[in-house]
Amino acid sequence: MSISQLEARLQELEQHALLLEPDASHRFPMQQAVERYAQHFLEALPEAPAFVPRSETHDSLAPFAIPELPKPIAETLQVLQHQVDTPGINSASGGHLGYIPGGGLYYAGLGDYLAAVANKYAGIFYSAPGAVKMENLLLRWMAETIGFPAEAAGNLTSGGSIASLIALATARDAKQITSRLVPEAVVYLTSHTHHCLNKALRIAGLGECPTRLVPMDDRYRMQPQALRAVIEQDKAAGLTPWLLVASAGTTDVGAVDPLPELAAVAQQHQLWFHVDAAYGGFFALAPSGKEILRGIEQADSVVMDPHKGLFIPYGLAPYLSKTGSSWPKPTTTRPITCKMPWQQTRNTPPQTFHRS
Ligand SMILES: Cc1ncc(COP(=O)(O)O)c(C=O)c1O
Repeated sequence: MSISQLEARLQELEQHALLLEPDASHRFPMQQAVERYAQHFLEALPEAPAFVPRSETHDSLAPFAIPELPKPIAETLQVLQHQVDTPGINSASGGHLGYIPGGGLYYAGLGDYLAAVANKYAGIFYSAPGAVKMENLLLRWMAETIGFPAEAAGNLTSGGSIASLIALATARDAKQITSRLVPEAVVYLTSHTHHCLNKALRIAGLGECPTRLVPMDDRYRMQPQALRAVIEQDKAAGLTPWLLVASAGTTDVGAVDPLPELAAVAQQHQLWFHVDAAYGGFFALAPSGKEILRGIEQADSVVMDPHKGLFIPYGLAPYLSKTGSSWPKPTTTRPITCKMPWQQTRNTPPQTFHRS
């Protein structure tokens, strides 16, 4: 292809690509239509039903699916309203009670919008130093909320499930549970532990660890005496107790396990003490909640869900590790190495980009 043919082809392709880059005269009316939709949604909330059963009229997304050319914004918003925002639970409705999903916060919605428009690549410090500092600031604040010390560390993930996976992978490495040890390495939880912990065990290669469902009291809290007894039995049988998962707010009934007593058992038997505070953790912001959560600061790791307790949009959850950087990393990270052809020929060292 000659240079002039190449230029003509690029100009042709540019015309297609420009569909995805509206200028200000197109952006503004779209943005106004979206904002009008948002205001209408918010104003209707006090009277909006908390649940709308799915019906046949909610099943016409198919003709809309993945069109080649853009649809008018009004038509798109209508589809969004009828097919997506109406059927099912409306957790933002004034009638929504007694179920964990939150209604979201408008301020956070604006933040999400700006984050998506700027689309900073926040996985690496040099690419987005402000965003990484913001993440670290949030992690520090959350760690302080539960009484973790200054050396605590963590990271933000998409939700409690992924944060739990990081927690268990970190615990596995810290306790050096290699695949050879898995069949003898015992995990302790209750039948009210959230199922994401079982999934995390499986994904982290720990699915074959013997798992003990420790008896609970009449308020669905793990019984420390029963835990002690089962650990001693396991030790006598030659097994290796290594992980205790406590709940600070169970999904079904909001039960908080007796954290100080469980921390003492974990310390005595050198177990990794993980607390799933996805639901209950942010109650530590209230004095009465802080009292109920007493002992959480003794955990080795904690998961909290701002998209539950702080009502922010899905999905965000921190994994917090009390001794942070001193623990082994769950995965070994290597710098991404990018060697340009001209660098190879001139024998210059490769450029390296470090993951944060
Ligand atoms: C106690 C508890 N832990 C973990 C999770 C999982 O969190 P996510 O849905 O953010 O993955 C939930 C979700 O309801 C929960 O209630």
